[in-house]
Amino acid sequence: MSRIAFVKDAFSAGSYVHRREAGVSIEDRGFLFSDGIYEVCEIRGGGLVDEQRHLDRYQSSLASLQLISPMSLRSLQLVLRETIRRNRVCDGILYFQVTRGAARRDHGFPAPDVPATLVVFATPIDVAAREEKARTGVTVVTLPDERWARRDIKTTSLLPNVLAKQAAREAGAYEAWLVDEAGTVTEGASTNAWIIAGDGTIVTRALSHDILPGISRSVILDAARDLQMKVEERPFTVEEAKAASEAFLSSSSAILLPIVGIDGARIGNGKPGPVTLRLRAFSRGISQISDMHLPSI
Ligand SMILES: Cc1ncc(COP(=O)(O)O)c(C=O)c1O
Repeated sequence: MSRIAFVKDAFSAGSYVHRREAGVSIEDRGFLFSDGIYEVCEIRGGGLVDEQRHLDRYQSSLASLQLISPMSLRSLQLVLRETIRRNRVCDGILYFQVTRGAARRDHGFPAPDVPATLVVFATPIDVAAREEKARTGVTVVTLPDERWARRDIKTTSLLPNVLAKQAAREAGAYEAWLVDEAGTVTEGASTNAWIIAGDGTIVTRALSHDILPGISRSVILDAARDLQMKVEERPFTVEEAKAASEAFLSSSSAILLPIVGIDGARIGNGKPGPVTLRLRAFSRGISQISDMHLPSI
């Protein structure tokens, strides 16, 4: 049972509190404006996966929104470890979020002395259920991409993603693939999107303002290169995806899940494909698990 969250804001210099008692101000700008950024990391065997890549993206998200980290990276690393430890999460996700703090409601930034809010929590996941999805594959539906123009920043402004995910669920699918005006797939509501062409080429959209630079995406690309598989980072259309021999999605919580149907059209033979499964196994093998006993400063 995960019960402990870490909260640092205008009222607390940073403390571990029971989740039911954890809270932030009703004037927190994360609550009022979604003026904040977040990270989701995989916890595997009690260890933090690909921490450095997450910290790099964290810093880049902060810089994009002119946010200042509420603590040094080293202190943050200690808090992340302590949150995992106190919750005794073996396999799950670690969530952390920084907002521009609490201040009288006004769209413009508050005074520089308003401290940023940091919230950290850890949640176990059902590994057996995830493995079952990897065994059977999942389906996706396509929907128009109605998000803003800076999808590369990992902000908490996720309303279009929320609505798309809900529409996918109501359609009986696991994920929504979002489609731009040119008819090409950008990414999923909370995952990156991939196809494997008939000749075995792995295709995923190149990084730009259009998509989130997924951490699992970067690890899978490393894995594909290690395996000397051919990779093309370019847009692909919905039609190309439906005609692909395999397709899959990636994220730190879903890891890599085979896609066996798009808008009701069967992908390949309707079963997880061999290239997808090979990439899944290999990329898991190359992801870095952090040393959880970082000495305190
Ligand atoms: C829109 C979007 N794309 C892609 C991803 C995958 O990113 P990562 O692999 O870092 O989890 C996420 C994860 O939350 C996401 O929200």
